[in-house]
Amino acid sequence: MNRFHIQGPNRLAGTIEAGGAKNATLPAMAASLLTDEPLVLRRVPRVQDIRTMARLLEHLGVENEADDEVVRLVPGGPGRPDDAPYELVKQMRAGVLVLGPLLARRGHARVSLPGGCAIGVRPIDQHLAGLEALGAEVTLEHGYVDARAKQLVGARYRFGMPTVGGTENLLMAAALARGTTRLENCAREPEIVDLARLLARMGAQIEGAGQDTIKIQGVESLSGAEHSIIADRIETGTYLVAAAMTGGDVTVTGTRAADLAPLLEKLAEAGCRIELGDDSLRLSLEGPLRARDVVTAPHPGFPTDLQAQYMALMTQADGVSTICETVFENRFQHVPELGRMGAHIEIDGSYARVHGPTGLSGAKVMATDLRASACLVLAGLAAEGRTVVDRIYHLDRGYEAMEHKLRALGARVERVSE
Ligand code: EPZ
Repeated sequence: MNRFHIQGPNRLAGTIEAGGAKNATLPAMAASLLTDEPLVLRRVPRVQDIRTMARLLEHLGVENEADDEVVRLVPGGPGRPDDAPYELVKQMRAGVLVLGPLLARRGHARVSLPGGCAIGVRPIDQHLAGLEALGAEVTLEHGYVDARAKQLVGARYRFGMPTVGGTENLLMAAALARGTTRLENCAREPEIVDLARLLARMGAQIEGAGQDTIKIQGVESLSGAEHSIIADRIETGTYLVAAAMTGGDVTVTGTRAADLAPLLEKLAEAGCRIELGDDSLRLSLEGPLRARDVVTAPHPGFPTDLQAQYMALMTQADGVSTICETVFENRFQHVPELGRMGAHIEIDGSYARVHGPTGLSGAKVMATDLRASACLVLAGLAAEGRTVVDRIYHLDRGYEAMEHKLRALGARVERVSE
């Protein structure tokens, strides 16, 4: 079991480079199931979820070779052709992203239902209803989704809510369906636009990715391609919040400001100075922080994946801020842990009221999910004394070498293995 020991308070200053986006890489890897030819992905983050997806794809017959940040996925290897087992999907819900491509390419998919997770129930009913609209026969038995279709056929489908994974699964399935598919009420996250770009390089015909309605003209086959993954906006946002939290001055290079607009607006309102470079973002804070409310929402709203980190920041701001979580029903698990460090936060359903500023004090705390872990690390950077963040395997699922990046900015963070 690994943990972080953080000696605070630290003022972060310096420059680091953003990694590639985990949540764009996962669907891009699943897209390798749509072709017989190699797919080369660049700027792949070296994080646990990517290794889990590589294992799942190997099981499905897609070999992978990784060299630094480049991953080459080569279909045609040994492996069971159409079965994604519970043992792999339970480790990472994004395993369900193989459903659409497997069904479209091989006519059959048997994928474990992912089950609930720490942040919410997270059903996949919309993925399934969308695939049924394209003509799939879907049954649920023994904890597995069994989906069959000799040939998917294009159709109109309107999502009940914007779902990132649902939109990605349908985009991949429709790319090989016969005829035209029209998807409405789609999720508009930058990761979806990145997937559509990759699919277009493979020969897919897609219009409207990043908008509410996406039109896909199915093609008979898709080829291999090379693609460079977009920057991880959530990782970049986490380091910018860390800078604000510690009254620091941090530049993140290789990133795209447009993808982070809702966070940057809030940080500016809260008193941070933000400078936009061509592909870099610099955040510095000199004066006091002001409390500012946020409501999470699908893109282009404030991302739920930055809610926990933003809440840590608001413990240091002057005044009361209200944070409303609308995307997941159980994403406040960091609150009691922040409370152990001295934060004053009340929860009322999907609302959290943060009373600031509070002087945080180092404590032993436990990570419960990926972004909650990041929130506790940020709190530890601002707290007086030593903070021990336990169970950082959650953090390793989505942040590459966080301790190295933080140390490069002057933080005193050690990874301790036991
Ligand atoms: C993606 O999850 C991300 N994961 C999550 O990142 C992120 O928090 C989430 O989108 C929202 O932005 C990946 O991209 C791999 P959704 P996803 O389907 O696709 C409900 C992180 O920390 N819903 O957009 O699973 C669902 O329960 C994470 O990196 C249904 O009801 O999210 C949720 O309340 C965790 N039925 C809401 O929609 C469905 O069929 C949005 O979920 C599908 C979703």
